[in-house]
Amino acid sequence: MQIAVIGSGYVGLVAAVGFCELGHNVICVDNDNAKLQKLRDGMMPFYEEHLKKLVRRHAGTRLSFSSDLAPAARDSQVIFIAVGTPAGENGEADLSYVEAVSREIAGAIKSYKIIVEKSTVPVYTSRWIRRSMLLNGAPAELFEVVSNPEFLREGSAIVDFLYPDRIVIGGDTPRSIAVVRSIYQPLEEGSYYADLSDIPPPPSFTGKVQIIETSTASAELIKHASNAFLAMKISFINAVATVCEAVGADVAEVATGVGADSRIGQRFLRPGIGYGGSCFPKDLKAFRAVAREVGYEFRLLDEIATINEEQKARFLRKVRGALWTLKGKKLGVLGISFKGGTDDIRESPAIPIIKALVQEGCRLNIYDPAAEERAQDELGQLGAITFASSPLEAARGADAAVILTDWAEFAELDLCAMREVLKYHLLIDGRNLFDPAEVAAKGLGYVSIGRPDSFPENHPATMNEPAQRIRIAGVNL
Ligand code: UGA
Repeated sequence: MQIAVIGSGYVGLVAAVGFCELGHNVICVDNDNAKLQKLRDGMMPFYEEHLKKLVRRHAGTRLSFSSDLAPAARDSQVIFIAVGTPAGENGEADLSYVEAVSREIAGAIKSYKIIVEKSTVPVYTSRWIRRSMLLNGAPAELFEVVSNPEFLREGSAIVDFLYPDRIVIGGDTPRSIAVVRSIYQPLEEGSYYADLSDIPPPPSFTGKVQIIETSTASAELIKHASNAFLAMKISFINAVATVCEAVGADVAEVATGVGADSRIGQRFLRPGIGYGGSCFPKDLKAFRAVAREVGYEFRLLDEIATINEEQKARFLRKVRGALWTLKGKKLGVLGISFKGGTDDIRESPAIPIIKALVQEGCRLNIYDPAAEERAQDELGQLGAITFASSPLEAARGADAAVILTDWAEFAELDLCAMREVLKYHLLIDGRNLFDPAEVAAKGLGYVSIGRPDSFPENHPATMNEPAQRIRIAGVNL
């Protein structure tokens, strides 16, 4: 099939190469000519596993790039809109890019097209797209609008696209749904997995892709509700972690026990310094704004966001608690990006924590495997910050090391080597990457989220203190 994908951000570019993998011809349209030129030259606008390989595989054959929307729309049977929907002033999604694209498509098409919303949009956006196209002269019989939300995660975007749990297709006629469904046929019938894929499946993949057909409004809601639910799981376990700390329980044990109920599940129950990224914070606000607009105060969403904000402040208190005062302390900081596997720092909880530490008078030596360059604008001007080329370099001579991002590389740190280079032999982990007993066995004190602190036997921090401190209602017992 001939497909146009408008917008070559995370969703657009990944979907474009994904469709090429499934055997389709794709024109990727973007108004950023510099970005397009880089893509033609095989350079990626962001880091994402497998992306470069797939762009290089298909560019010049099934995949082409253009800044000219009209001919791309005219030449394609299906047009995917994957442009940005940033947060507006009151949290509502800013749909001006979606509208501008709809207008342009309306002026261009001469034969029947299916317009697919791939960006995350509020419910009823499909109706607005339709209305805007009609107002801009597109004859009603020449197009239909379908919602096909994307559920990929940064860091595993290609794998998520090619091995999805489900594909949701929301349309208002059987014809439009059938056309979009046929695009995914190699995934639905499994032929892509049997013959073609050189990208290994994730452990969670069951071998079967579920296709869910709905109305457009339902599909739009599925996307917002899914992200809100996932954010809720994270805030829930973070709140439980706080209670665990107060009573001396271990949140890892609690999460395992809770998640073993198949109705709940283990995933997205990892406590930490809170969720970040370009999706959860923005989508939660947008969903909240939509609900308010239709007359419902979705207060649960406020509470999810509040717990997430508080989690950063709580972590700062933890760092303070472990080091007594922060002024003049030197810390090795591991991680800037909002999660491991990506150089994206948008809404990363690491950034405000880093800024607060600097404000409190710390000197930081920071290491991130991929995000340093992107963080220069945000952090470069702060002073009191240097960048290191490895975790050990970041930690060398520091009073303590602080983990802010769950990079796989950090979970494999050589703890004995860390002990050698750290002054206070202390690791403060905002992502719970280690087993507390194992860290203590390597001679490091260890402070994490929702679990009792662990210290090696003769660590100075625990001298004359009971082996395990249990705090109930703020009282140390
Ligand atoms: C999220 C959703 O997971 C995707 O399904 C969705 O398609 C995407 O948003 C989107 O709307 O485009 P993403 O933001 O890439 O994907 O990243 P996640 O893996 O969901 O992580 C989000 C944040 O939650 C990160 O800061 C991560 O560290 C944090 N997190 C995640 C936790 O703190 N605990 C967990 O158990 C899981």
